[in-house]
Order: sequence, then C-alpha cells, then structure tokens
Amino acid sequence: MKSLKENIKFAATSPRAKRLKRRSLAVHDGPEVHALLEKAYDGTYGYPIGGMWSLESVVSEIEKGCGWALFRGNGLLAFVLLREIGLVWDTTFLATDPNFQGQGYMRDLFGFVLQQVPSGGAVWLEVHEGNLPAHRLYRRLGFRRVGMRPQYYRDGGAAILFEWVARK
Ligand SMILES: CC(C)(COP(=O)(O)OP(=O)(O)OC[C@H]1O[C@@H](n2cnc3c(N)ncnc32)[C@H](O)[C@@H]1OP(=O)(O)O)[C@@H](O)C(=O)NCCC(=O)NCCS
Repeated sequence: MKSLKENIKFAATSPRAKRLKRRSLAVHDGPEVHALLEKAYDGTYGYPIGGMWSLESVVSEIEKGCGWALFRGNGLLAFVLLREIGLVWDTTFLATDPNFQGQGYMRDLFGFVLQQVPSGGAVWLEVHEGNLPAHRLYRRLGFRRVGMRPQYYRDGGAAILFEWVARK
C-alpha cells in the first residue's frame, strides 16, 4: 500500500475553479509556508501554537512529513502538513491565508487529505481550546475529541486533542 505521502503525490486534481491548484508541498515551498504561518498566527487570532517555527524547522517538517497545499496562481492559499508515524498521521500545522478564510478552502483541502488515508489509518491533531473556528472545521470533517492537555499553551490555554479514523 502506498504511504499517504505517495498517494498525495499521485492524486493531483483540480478543485473548484481552474485557477486553483492542489498539489503536495515541496521543500521549495518552505518560505511561502513559513510566511503564511507567520500571517495566520500573528496574534490577531490569539490562539498560540505549540512552538516558534523558524524557516529551517518548517523546511525540515516538509522534508520529513507530508504536506498538501492549495494555490491560486502562484500564491499559497492554504496548506496542511502532517507527520506519518505508522498508521497515524500527526498534524503538524495547517493554515489558510487570512484573506481567504471562511471560503471553504480548508474544508476542501483537509477533506481531500483525509480521503488519502488508508483504511484503519488515523489522523491526530491538537488545537487551542479557544480556537473555535478550527474546532468547527474538525468536527465538520468528522474528527472527534479524544483528550485534553491542560495549560499546554504559553497563554495557559488547554490543548484539545482530536482524532479522525479512516473507515472505508
Ligand atoms: C482554522 C482555519 C484553518 C480554517 O480555515 P478556513 O479555510 O477558513 O476554513 P473553511 O472556510 O474551509 O471552513 C470550514 C469550516 O470551518 C469552520 N469555520 C471556519 N472559519 C470559521 C469562523 N471564522 N467561524 C466559525 N467557524 C468557522 C466552519 O465550520 C466551516 O464550515 P462551514 O462554513 O461549512 O460551516 C483558519 O481559520 C486558519 O488558518 N486559522 C489560523 C491557523 C489555525 O488556527 N490553524 C489550526 C491550528 S490547530
């Protein structure tokens, strides 16, 4: 069976409009991914992530993990980056450009990524307890809450753990 990374590479399709392109993330996307992360987590939303991500660490995650992104023209709209650990894909981070949020891009992109997970596989993620847009997104995609880590983030907020299991 192909790993998620291989599946993603071979499953390129064009969602919605012609100008939108979905493809796997490559190391050369590192600077754009890093810039989008900085924009998406600039404090406006008040939901800190677990660590500070340097460009080097973002590039390293793309190299070691598997990622999928949505582009409009040459511009990065949204991405999901995961790390494959056996039958579990642990979500490292995901974001949609703040100018394009609330338009269904992440629902499409993450929904597509979930379709690539083989039967019995699971996707895990953790999210700040206050990040309600993300909570709604995950529930809508079929994730269920499986745990909590109190005072996990720097602001004292708890991390809520979600899991999605592939049943085919
Ligand atoms: C969370 C995030 C990735 C959602 O991306 P998005 O492209 O805006 O999401 P979509 O437009 O595809 O919306 C999908 C679902 O998420 C929920 N949602 C998204 N934005 C929302 C908002 N502002 N308020 C409430 N629900 C929201 C809704 O349930 C929505 O589906 P629906 O409109 O059909 O009900 C985006 O807000 C983001 O990048 N946030 C900053 C980074 C972040 O928090 N990442 C997650 C950390 S774990």
